[in-house]
Amino acid sequence: MTATAAKRTSDPPVETEAVLAALPDPILVLDAADRLRYANAAAEQFFDTGAATLLQSALTEFVPADSPLFALVETVRASGHSVSEYGVTLETPRLGTRVVTIQAAPLAEDHGRVVVTLQERSIADKIDRQLTHRNAARSVTAMAAMLAHEVKNPLSGIRGAAQLLEETASAADRELTRLICDETDRICALVDRMDVFTDRRPIERDAVNIHEVLERVRMIARSGFARHVRFIEDYDPSLPLVDGNRDLLIQVFLNLVKNAAEAVPEQGGEIELATAYRHGVRLAVAGSDSRVHLPLVVTVTDNGEGIPDDLRPHLFDPFVTTKHNGSGLGLAFVAKVVGDHGGIIEFDSQPRRTAFRVLLPTALRKGARP
Ligand SMILES: Nc1ncnc2c1ncn2[C@@H]1O[C@H](COP(=O)(O)OP(=O)(O)OP(=O)(O)O)[C@@H](O)[C@H]1O
Ligand SMILES: [Mg+2]
Repeated sequence: MTATAAKRTSDPPVETEAVLAALPDPILVLDAADRLRYANAAAEQFFDTGAATLLQSALTEFVPADSPLFALVETVRASGHSVSEYGVTLETPRLGTRVVTIQAAPLAEDHGRVVVTLQERSIADKIDRQLTHRNAARSVTAMAAMLAHEVKNPLSGIRGAAQLLEETASAADRELTRLICDETDRICALVDRMDVFTDRRPIERDAVNIHEVLERVRMIARSGFARHVRFIEDYDPSLPLVDGNRDLLIQVFLNLVKNAAEAVPEQGGEIELATAYRHGVRLAVAGSDSRVHLPLVVTVTDNGEGIPDDLRPHLFDPFVTTKHNGSGLGLAFVAKVVGDHGGIIEFDSQPRRTAFRVLLPTALRKGARP
């Protein structure tokens, strides 16, 4: 036996209790009558109450009985599945207002007992980011409308004048009039790309096979900008159809795959396209009792250098770009369209692993899971 192995076996075993106490997120166990049967250190802090008191209490003493938290716990008991809900507002005189993500799971082989975790910071961040994306999309909308009126019209005047000059200009000057025409064309094309942001109509939706969308995207990418990239697919073949707009979704994933292809190294670049079904991801709709179910997860992962820290808070804003020829509209478009689908986009980025995750609703028509 080596010295390290000997040392390892003589280490004291890891205490589960110590692990739970070290976790920063509150963890609770509720029994069938919603009484607290367990609370870790973070939960004591969250409720500003010691474990001894918590464990003698019903959760209704800390959280109002009509809180969505209880409905969620009931759903878990009824379905036997774990459920998470984003952006739930917990409001009590004692807690103040807090926005949390609640994850609830049945305790194995223990009827009626449910483990609940509350994530505060991370989810507040996520919701915040989500709202930021929607704001970003809104500011593009206003900007696009302005550009269409204030920029495109004068540009066509400038272009017309340059063409007139071209007729009588010397060869040397003609080069300049050409330049004017080409540049005005380029700006017009840019303004045209913003057209999508001015469209405030609800999108036309259908039941869309997301794998067909991803295969199309991969084909376009392989024959153009991602010729040297290795693609890996990890599809869940039993995935239900998406409630979405096929053409817009193709453009969304093209934008994400194009960014990934531009981020990966010249040699050994890899992009993974993955789909999965996640039970019980719901987004509370702000200011109402309704929830959107977002069980379809599509992930585009690349092995590039990652997203620079200073870019992250503004990543989905229009005109944010680190690229020489970038317009910075790729992700603004993605945020707008995913938002129009009622979905969520999130990202995780570290060197050699950057993932953009799009959460979408299912089409509850043919092909949907029960
Ligand atoms: N997968 C990624 N890895 C690293 N950085 C990324 C990734 N995706 C986006 N970014 C960063 O986010 C910026 C904004 O992306 P966005 O797609 O909005 O614009 P762009 O790619 O620069 O321009 P365009 O999409 O118009 O060609 C990029 O310039 C890049 O710095
Ligand atoms: Mg881009």
